[in-house]
Amino acid sequence: MSGVRRRLNVRIHRDDVTYPVVVCQRSRATELGDVFDKLGLFESRGQMGRVKRRACIVYDEGFIHARPDVLRTLRKLFPLRDNLFLGVPGAEASKSIFKAEKILGEMIKAGLTRNDFCLAVGGGVVGDLGGFVASLYHRGMDVVHVPTTLLAMVDSSIGGKTAVNHPEGKNLIGAFHQPAAVVVVLDFLDSLPDFDFQSGLGEVFKYAVGFSPALFRYLDRHAEQVLGRDPAALAHVLLESVAIKSEVVRRDERETGVARLHLASRSRFADRRLLNLGHTIGHGIEKAYALPHGMAVAVGVTIAAKLSAKLKLCPIRCYDQSMNLATRLLLRTDADLDWRLKDVLPYVRRDKKLVGDRLQFVCLKNIGHSFVHPITFNDLKLLER
Ligand SMILES: NC(=O)c1ccc[n+]([C@@H]2O[C@H](COP(=O)([O-])OP(=O)(O)OC[C@H]3O[C@@H](n4cnc5c(N)ncnc54)[C@H](O)[C@@H]3O)[C@@H](O)[C@H]2O)c1
Repeated sequence: MSGVRRRLNVRIHRDDVTYPVVVCQRSRATELGDVFDKLGLFESRGQMGRVKRRACIVYDEGFIHARPDVLRTLRKLFPLRDNLFLGVPGAEASKSIFKAEKILGEMIKAGLTRNDFCLAVGGGVVGDLGGFVASLYHRGMDVVHVPTTLLAMVDSSIGGKTAVNHPEGKNLIGAFHQPAAVVVVLDFLDSLPDFDFQSGLGEVFKYAVGFSPALFRYLDRHAEQVLGRDPAALAHVLLESVAIKSEVVRRDERETGVARLHLASRSRFADRRLLNLGHTIGHGIEKAYALPHGMAVAVGVTIAAKLSAKLKLCPIRCYDQSMNLATRLLLRTDADLDWRLKDVLPYVRRDKKLVGDRLQFVCLKNIGHSFVHPITFNDLKLLER
């Protein structure tokens, strides 16, 4: 097929920020060079005329191990004499304040300015770390995300959340820092292990069930192509997912629940908490049964559908439909994981969405229509098996 090249602009309400998400098919130097050039990464044009820009490229060593050609391409586009290349392992341990300080130290030594930028090439770990560092350097420099996992493409690179971990918990130290651009290269997914691909697909499944009957139908009809990583099918699914996440984030960048507080928007997307569909129980499942994040989210989504049906908030067919699609996408579900409420509850009790004795639970009204609904722990007993 001919090369895919799509562009979508993500707009954030607060501060009127807009940034492009560019999806291209291949990582050839000519194609990437053209995209980077159009994004103004090689030079900026201001009152002082054209000023050359330098890059601090923070890359995922696991990804580059699988795709050494990408490092060669990046070095061709950003020669070593002017730019900084820093590899970090794509593992949670890399999201530390010590690693961030080390990178910041290298940037200071190299004399980077605020006109320069950080290019974060990797999965969610590298994106969160690169974004965090960029939010701090000289009180904030541009970060451009080049996500390499499906999860990073559809989720973590969009929305401006950056963070490192603390021994007391995940993502406890961080900042909101919207990217200057996101560049998605489809052929990066070729080397992604099935395990990580399926985990990203869990988040795509969440977008379909919670936000978009059209994406739901598409996934149902094109499950084989998506699982076969067909570029056209992936491009479609990626852009739909990015459009959904960016629409939610645009209206509620900082998870304040805009609709709830001000009734300012009639859009039912105006509440970032909706992105937590499947996550309340999903987090518990992830911890209790050591399942990858996105897989646990998929189970959580099917459980949210079941609870919504039991509470008579949605028709029972929503549960059946979500189970069918999850199965077609080879995701785990409520039925095929032998899970127990008692194993999961201890984690749910620590959930940030707990207000008093009520959980702000994301429920379903129908396929593609989610909403936040307060539930009690007694309600959760409906899930007892
Ligand atoms: N900022 C946000 O809004 C947000 C949202 C969701 C998750 N996150 C964060 O994202 C992180 C998880 O991200 P992830 O799932 O992308 O995992 P990851 O970054 O840990 O990467 C998973 C593994 O895949 C390897 N890898 C990456 N791309 C590859 C490729 N194309 N081919 C072969 N191997 C490749 C990595 O080296 C790593 O071993 C977590 O730290 C989570 O907190 C952030």
